[in-house]
Amino acid sequence: MSSREHWASRAGFLLAAIGSAVGLGNLWGFPYKASANGGAAFVLVYLAVIALVCLPLLVVELLIGRRTGESPVLALAMVGGPRWRWLGYAMTLNAAVILAFYSVVAGWTLLSAGRTLLLGLPADPAAFFSSISQGPLAIVGHLLAMLFTAGVIALGVRGGIERLSLWCMPLLFVLLVAMAIWASTLSGAGEGYRFYLQPDLQELLRWPTLTSAAGHAFFSLSLGLGAIITYASYTQGQEGLGCQAGMIAAADTAVALVGGLITFPLVAHFNLLGSLSESTVGTLFVAIPTGMASLGGLGRWLAVAFYGVLVLAALTSAVSLLEVSTAAFIDRLGWSRRRATTLAVAAITLLGLLPASDSRWIDVLYTVFGETGLLFGGLMLALLVGWGQPRLEGEAPLVVRRLLRWLGTPVLLVLLVQSLLHLPQVVAPLLQS
Ligand code: PFF
Repeated sequence: MSSREHWASRAGFLLAAIGSAVGLGNLWGFPYKASANGGAAFVLVYLAVIALVCLPLLVVELLIGRRTGESPVLALAMVGGPRWRWLGYAMTLNAAVILAFYSVVAGWTLLSAGRTLLLGLPADPAAFFSSISQGPLAIVGHLLAMLFTAGVIALGVRGGIERLSLWCMPLLFVLLVAMAIWASTLSGAGEGYRFYLQPDLQELLRWPTLTSAAGHAFFSLSLGLGAIITYASYTQGQEGLGCQAGMIAAADTAVALVGGLITFPLVAHFNLLGSLSESTVGTLFVAIPTGMASLGGLGRWLAVAFYGVLVLAALTSAVSLLEVSTAAFIDRLGWSRRRATTLAVAAITLLGLLPASDSRWIDVLYTVFGETGLLFGGLMLALLVGWGQPRLEGEAPLVVRRLLRWLGTPVLLVLLVQSLLHLPQVVAPLLQS
């Protein structure tokens, strides 16, 4: 274990963990889902799930990683006994599948940013988006995103992940805040905020609101699939885990909230709120450039900044997903980092050809693996730490274990069942055609 890599600094680790959490989920997923699921009602459920279920689990993942110094497969076997090894495998596989479609969406942001930077905004954003969202160009975007992610991972924990996070995350925060301030000055900003956050409390009682808010909280915090265990396994310090968990969750939630404070004023300003109602992923890739184009030359650079933020957010998250599989190969099979990266990237790139060729797969894979899979991973961790006898030698704070036992377990069980019941509905359209 002495040859294992470590973060060079505490800030490096924290920024990397925040980089994993802050991603496309915050900037595109959260605002869109909030507006489609009862606005402030969604935000309320989201915050409650973060505080009561996700935070304790975040502490647990940090603790397991730091205590064992291993990636999920070995870490869970050490903490729960060999019987729990399968959960580590399941998490590693889940991370790989999530990366397969995540990198396709990351590819959209890369292509949009590149095109806007080099050639300006497209004359017909809708046509441009449909040309890059599936088919040959989407495959190119996916390959570029995987290539970049692989490059960072091959450079290692300090030389790759930590260096990337130390540069990108502060830049991302500055760009985000600047854009939110600028968006607040637009006419129509108030209308945008209202559309975003208007509470529709009836939504609180609907299962889809509850499951999508909870599933999204897990996805956004990168919980339930071992990414945090893996990152924490490279730490050595004795800092308070509650404090670290709090900082990661606070930064992630703040970025999600601010993401909406940018997109909705913009969309309202350009009179595009109507086009959001039946939207899926694509609307922001169409609505935002359509509006920006009307601002002339300035619009182009604002769009570059906007897509730049998306690119930074997407890549720092993709890197953490790839590290889960890479670390598993290194720790389990004793492979070199380069060999492990190559094999993981080859397999995930191949799998990503499916969502890159037909973007309907993205919704399906997100719901099955990104939502249901993470809730399942969270539930298993809650059972292990809340009900089992984890070998954490009294390190897991009592309040965390109690919360996971009496609140986390039942809540996650109900949410998981609901989300499983909802799955056929999500998968059906794909099977019918
Ligand atoms: N948290 C990322 C986002 O919000 O976009 C997605 C993600 C990254 C999920 C890493 C899971 C993970 F392990």
